Amino acid sequence: MRNFADFQKFVAENDGVQRCLIRCDLNLPSDVEDLTRVYAIRDTVLSVLDMGLQVVLISHYKRPKPEDVANPKFSLQNIVKNVADVLEVPVHFEKSSVFDMEPTAITERVTLLENLRFYEGETKNDDELAARLAKFGDVYINDAFSVSHRAHASVSAITQYLPSFAGRSLQREVEGISKATSNIARPYVAIIGGSKVSSKIDVLKQLSQTADYLVVAGAMKNTFLAAQGFDLKASMVEQEQFDTAREILKNSKAEIILPTDFTVSKDINTDGVNCALADIPDGFECFDIGETTTERVISIIKKCKTLLWNGALGAFEFANFDKSSKAITKAIVEATKGGLVSVIGGGETVASIGEYKKDMTFVSTAGGAFLEFVAGYELPGLTALEA
Ligand code: 3PG
Repeated sequence: MRNFADFQKFVAENDGVQRCLIRCDLNLPSDVEDLTRVYAIRDTVLSVLDMGLQVVLISHYKRPKPEDVANPKFSLQNIVKNVADVLEVPVHFEKSSVFDMEPTAITERVTLLENLRFYEGETKNDDELAARLAKFGDVYINDAFSVSHRAHASVSAITQYLPSFAGRSLQREVEGISKATSNIARPYVAIIGGSKVSSKIDVLKQLSQTADYLVVAGAMKNTFLAAQGFDLKASMVEQEQFDTAREILKNSKAEIILPTDFTVSKDINTDGVNCALADIPDGFECFDIGETTTERVISIIKKCKTLLWNGALGAFEFANFDKSSKAITKAIVEATKGGLVSVIGGGETVASIGEYKKDMTFVSTAGGAFLEFVAGYELPGLTALEA
């Protein structure tokens, strides 16, 4: 992959390079409280500015439909102040379409262009859009690992029109996740949570072949248990995934750990009680894994050398159902101090570990890209940066 050192060399050898187009992922969570993705690009942007280059930032923001183009809810203007605050440099926001303005009109040190998904061609990997965007830079950096699973114009097609390199954040993500997926120190435990088996089939299949232990938590554990005939009462299950769950269970080389007890309640807003799989009362839902299961997962973590975690274990946003997330997070922090390689990915998961982010070996800002990378898929954004 053409990395940031290659970029520096390229700029040093080419006098004409004055402006750098940086693809970042400013698709922040709706509350805009979590600025992790802005902090992620700080290093790259400041280094490029230090080299004396002008910076043009490009990103998508949410998923606007064609009729949402003029809808301020989808404008990157909403977060330009956050970006300027994190970078500690003034950031000019340019609302005009790239087809309606001249690249030379941009004179500021740092400019953020409007939401790329306002252009129909972005998600179609359209050449015309890519060629037009390319006019806004002399060189291109992708510093958005979390969008690199998308074959979009600003991620993939654009690399045909400009010398293209990886930014420091993208590089860190690839190296960090690779730690848990190549040359794995064993035993290796993978913890996969989240609500739907259907959204994680490939990664579950892959990890069931490569990990030593595969802990299935979150709402998707319901589907695995129900597929084996257990009655999960009012809990959410995906009946159409029963065959997939059975196939994963049957073919797994990893020991699959499914919960044997839960914190259950009739209503997510009321207190939960701990109960065993066979004792879930009628009308109750499992909102977290239970105490015995949590202890079992912790004992596995203690004997492992590598850990990968993606997906919430329970409804951790509710104080009644965050016990397993808290206890397991603490166990990972302790084990990491003792040499465990801990790699955590996905927005929800990162939110659930809160202040302990800094205590993990590596925390990825990516969701879908993290899963696809772990599942061994080729990511178009990374392929485009290969020499
Ligand atoms: C993400 O939030 O995972 C990335 O920004 C990609 O967004 P997308 O799923 O809308 O392509």
